[in-house]
Amino acid sequence: MQEYAFTVHSIPIGVLGASGYAGRELCGLIASHPSCNLRFATANERRGQTLRVRSGHGALIDVPMIAPDDANLNEVELVFSALPHGASVDWVGRVLDAGIRVVDLSSDLRPGRGGSTHPIPASVPANVPYGLPELFRADIAGARVVANPGCYPTSILVALAPFVRAGLVAPGALVSVAAASGVSGAGASPKAELLFAEVTENFRAYSAGNVHRHLPEMTDSVARLGGDFDLLFTPHLLPVDRGILSTITVPLTAPIADPLSVLRAAYDNEPFVEVSAELPALADVVHRNVVRVSAVTVQHVRTPTLLLFAAIDNLVKGAAGQAVQNANIMLGLDEAAGLPR
Ligand SMILES: NC(=O)c1ccc[n+]([C@@H]2O[C@H](COP(=O)([O-])OP(=O)(O)OC[C@H]3O[C@@H](n4cnc5c(N)ncnc54)[C@H](OP(=O)(O)O)[C@@H]3O)[C@@H](O)[C@H]2O)c1
Repeated sequence: MQEYAFTVHSIPIGVLGASGYAGRELCGLIASHPSCNLRFATANERRGQTLRVRSGHGALIDVPMIAPDDANLNEVELVFSALPHGASVDWVGRVLDAGIRVVDLSSDLRPGRGGSTHPIPASVPANVPYGLPELFRADIAGARVVANPGCYPTSILVALAPFVRAGLVAPGALVSVAAASGVSGAGASPKAELLFAEVTENFRAYSAGNVHRHLPEMTDSVARLGGDFDLLFTPHLLPVDRGILSTITVPLTAPIADPLSVLRAAYDNEPFVEVSAELPALADVVHRNVVRVSAVTVQHVRTPTLLLFAAIDNLVKGAAGQAVQNANIMLGLDEAAGLPR
């Protein structure tokens, strides 16, 4: 009997910013990815330390963290940049200069750039794809650089998009979003307002008045989807580790008899969107690469109005998981490979 030897190619990956919340999540996902291996992980102040992460299989893994300048870009096929905005775009430029693909988790290359005016390196192409696969998948395959969406925008755009595309949102209306995020959304660097005693048993809004940095990537995407309305986005800080719940009030052109059927028609074949008749909760989505959405018709108001709900894990579908989903598409792998459902 003839024997065949199969060599499974494992793709070497680098993570910039591995000591941060998103970077740690990335290292855990790559450690259990069936087609990738973690070749280097960087930190800034914590360079030289060892990071202990839990892989998707539950094993604890020790990852040595090196300085970004010590990373050998030539030994990897793709880099995730989980650096703060500003620092990230400079590294995206260096990675592209080395001929390596990159997924940028920062806002530096998203529409509106999170308000950043930091110069964009010459090696970064114009019109970097916005990596929200469920809405803009065709732009991602074959791209050398992808801008991973923000966590709030991911939850809000996935819930809204089917109604926008169908022309069901009243033109000129004010669509109001109240969204609450766990504390890990603010990153791992110490801030006085994020101390345990400030956050626990407390709940407050922030960036009130439509001034959050991530509003432009939402308004840009709404326009791309054919929407012509205003968004009013009010984020809140929730005293939990991880998770976002967005509640979206949508004035409609006309009443919709079965709004869940609109969501189901859009997302029936999407592995990472769950349409639920029950209102989604954080416990449904933490540690999973999913957006869980629901819709309810509003009673006792004169204008036909819809309430949309979307729950995600800000560190998985809102950051590292979606970045791996984008990388899978860029590398021609199964889009769901290595991702927790
Ligand atoms: N947290 C979320 O829920 C979330 C969601 C979506 C997108 N994002 C985006 O993902 C990126 C990372 O977020 P995060 O929350 O993980 O941030 P973070 O916890 O503050 O981590 C930042 C990482 O970057 C490193 N770093 C900081 N300044 C650097 C510099 N000048 N040069 C090189 N490395 C530097 C830090 O290293 P040291 O710790 O060693 O100093 C750390 O590894 C951000 O752009 C953020 O906007 C985050």
